[in-house]
Amino acid sequence: MCGIIGFTGGRNAAGVLLDGLAELEYRGYDSAGISCFTRENGIDTVKTVGKVANLRACLPPGLTSSCGIGHTRWATHGGVSQTNAHPHTCGRVTLIHNGIIENYLALREELAQTGRTPVSQTDSEIAAMLIDSLYDGDARAAIRAAAARLEGAYAFCILFADQPGTIWCIRRGSPLVACHCEAGSIIASDMVALLRYSKDYFVLEENQIARLTPDGISLTGPDGMPAFPDYQTVTWDVSSAQKNGFKHYMEKEIHEQPEALSRTITPRILKYQENGSVFTLPDFSADCIPDSVFRDLTRIVITACGTAMHAGMMGKILFERLLRIPVTVDIASEFRYQDPILDKNTLVITVSQSGETADTLAALRLARSAGGRTLSIVNVKGSSIARESEHVFYTHAGPEIAVASTKAYTAQLAAFYLIAFRAAFACGRLSAAECSARAEGLLSMIPSIHRILEMKEITEKISRHLTRASDLFFIGRGMDYALSCEGSIKLKEISYIHSEAYAAGELKHGTLSLITADVPVIALATQHDVLSKMVSNIKEVRARGAFVILVTAADAVIEESQYDYRIDLPSMDDWFAPFAAAVILQLIAYHTSYLRGLDVDQPRNLAKSVTVE
Ligand code: AGP
Repeated sequence: MCGIIGFTGGRNAAGVLLDGLAELEYRGYDSAGISCFTRENGIDTVKTVGKVANLRACLPPGLTSSCGIGHTRWATHGGVSQTNAHPHTCGRVTLIHNGIIENYLALREELAQTGRTPVSQTDSEIAAMLIDSLYDGDARAAIRAAAARLEGAYAFCILFADQPGTIWCIRRGSPLVACHCEAGSIIASDMVALLRYSKDYFVLEENQIARLTPDGISLTGPDGMPAFPDYQTVTWDVSSAQKNGFKHYMEKEIHEQPEALSRTITPRILKYQENGSVFTLPDFSADCIPDSVFRDLTRIVITACGTAMHAGMMGKILFERLLRIPVTVDIASEFRYQDPILDKNTLVITVSQSGETADTLAALRLARSAGGRTLSIVNVKGSSIARESEHVFYTHAGPEIAVASTKAYTAQLAAFYLIAFRAAFACGRLSAAECSARAEGLLSMIPSIHRILEMKEITEKISRHLTRASDLFFIGRGMDYALSCEGSIKLKEISYIHSEAYAAGELKHGTLSLITADVPVIALATQHDVLSKMVSNIKEVRARGAFVILVTAADAVIEESQYDYRIDLPSMDDWFAPFAAAVILQLIAYHTSYLRGLDVDQPRNLAKSVTVE
């Protein structure tokens, strides 16, 4: 996934573009570049491998312009090189692209017949070449004609050499948000790049074409008719998307979790009167999610990617315990190529922090076409998955910049708890009193997160030991197994240490052969109903010499000889232990990456939201 931005107006375009790219860099950081209209040369392009700071350093002094486009790349087609960096210029067209053109090879062959040969290995350059081949002075017509030929996902910002000061844009499957404000007209992949200029913005609709000039933005719908922006106002401020004194975004976002959980939970727990008694129940009226969504269900399918999918694993446990109907959790990139058996009595829940993950969006579209009911749990307002779901449950974690998801994950957990409690009440599986007790329990969990955040010393000490590991295992049962999966991805994606999550009871069926002296095993034993079994599994790995890090309940009786480190959770109901244990695992992952001197917020090869397949 890449970050793109366009600006035309009364400011120095290069400065606006570079500042915007710095905000968008979490979307991809293999290379960066800008193109600006300049008096001398028409369009000047500067691009370089590496991060935006590299680009800023190699910008020629005195590059003055009032209109330009900028791009920060996560490589999909073609390696990381200056040639493959965006923007790409072909003839009169200079273009930046976020997405994947699936039929670029066929188009490249076709264009070669007209003597057009690319200099890069990218699909994006082929798109620029196609638009240039169709351009006869009418930019809108050329873009529409090209859109009819392109297959795949794209968000383009395009400069035409003979239209100085104007930027043309179109999107299909990749996000674009825009605003016209005092500074001029700005368009970008994500609101974080607009925020310093305006809190009001609109989302470009699928297949809409936008024309940006210093005086405003005009829109054309896919039908060729004028369209009008639906402006909305972002609810958070610039500081929400800054580090605010923390060393890394991830550290800040880990520490924001009590507030993120409170914003997600508290507004949805309201007073409810029944037979003269007052209860506090989850209430989704403000989300426009009626109880009917949860009634007459025969099955629930949860589908997502990565961390969001791990939150879904916890949702499965909650729904099956309370609703007593089958729940499956599917990796979205698998689900979308299955031929799922869905009907109006199946609820498909998609989970996505960004709301733009290509596989999850495709899974949602498949679910809708197959006749399932759809509900999405999303953190970014107005994102594609949110807009295409019948019902949306927004988490209010605020902007999450670090590639490793933390506050969005625990907010997704909170969403599943609230939905499971409300659904069980709506279906008569929980009485008002029982539902109220669980809702109160969820609220009372939030203060315990502050206690966990104070565990910096022990988690840092554990991390110091882990920095030397080459392989590492997370084990657990039930909720703790779902959490082990999340702990494992968190650690490996930012520390580059290979780790694996394993159902503790399954180890002896093969993987136990990998447990040898000093191999670190992080054992999660927070659930009393399987504690004795977990103790047996801990003894199994200990007997093979494992270095055991135990995360457990304060009252768990486990011999000291069975572990090297023990972290006790604050006293809390097992039901809510995953929130506290998750933060411990996040802190361990964070410290391990930092101690290894790695780029915690922007780990190699990754991007914040994978909007390509
Ligand atoms: C989380 O730490 C990872 N960066 C990644 O697994 C992420 O959760 C996944 O790509 C899904 O993203 P989404 O929630 O924006 O759909």
